[in-house]
Amino acid sequence: MSAPLAGRRVLVTAGPTFEDLDPVRFLGNRSSGKMGFAIAAAAQRAGADVVLVAGPVHLPAPEGVQRIDVRSAAQMHDAVFAALPADVYIGAAAVADFTPAHIASSKIKKQPGDDGLQLRLVRTRDILADVALATPRPTLVVGFAAETDAVDEHARAKRIAKRVDLIAANRVGIDGSGFEGDDNTLHVHGADGHVQLGPAPKTEIADQLVALIAARLQQDPR
Ligand code: C5P
Repeated sequence: MSAPLAGRRVLVTAGPTFEDLDPVRFLGNRSSGKMGFAIAAAAQRAGADVVLVAGPVHLPAPEGVQRIDVRSAAQMHDAVFAALPADVYIGAAAVADFTPAHIASSKIKKQPGDDGLQLRLVRTRDILADVALATPRPTLVVGFAAETDAVDEHARAKRIAKRVDLIAANRVGIDGSGFEGDDNTLHVHGADGHVQLGPAPKTEIADQLVALIAARLQQDPR
């Protein structure tokens, strides 16, 4: 079996993050983690030394992959920076953009007469954008984008704004479809244009994405 990523360290994030409100409640997002886990497995098959930073998901770790479990966006940020440096960073996690300003130490109770609850959220740190500015920077920084519309335009803009090498964009339905399934279609945008991977099972798309990454590393071995 060929090992185009032999000797390379690949850091992958996968799954959602959960942002706690109190000891029993959290804000989360729809992400099964399947795409990121498939990418970690594909990179491992391609010979890489793989670290997988996983948010809360019900998936077994791919064999031979070092898995680090986290819950919140802040924990994911810390785990990623502790695992750097890497040759390749693939941010497939659906990281929360906002987190509660305060976590209540006991369960938030409704009071008689309450007609609602105001939550104050603050921005999380953008892990992908921070990795793209890290020293030493991974040779290839790959982000994901789930979009409901104008997939290619948003992907192009995101690639430039976050200074990443590749953005793998996929369309999700306004009803959230596209998150839980076993199949996917990715539009992978680089500085030199874009290619479509799939529609195909996520495991196959992962192999194709890893092959594309390996080819880019060979062009720019650094
Ligand atoms: O801007 P948007 O959240 O759509 O970008 C998605 C990409 O950015 C994904 O690769 C995701 O893992 C990453 N991201 C991140 N940290 C955040 C928010 C998004 O790494 N706080």
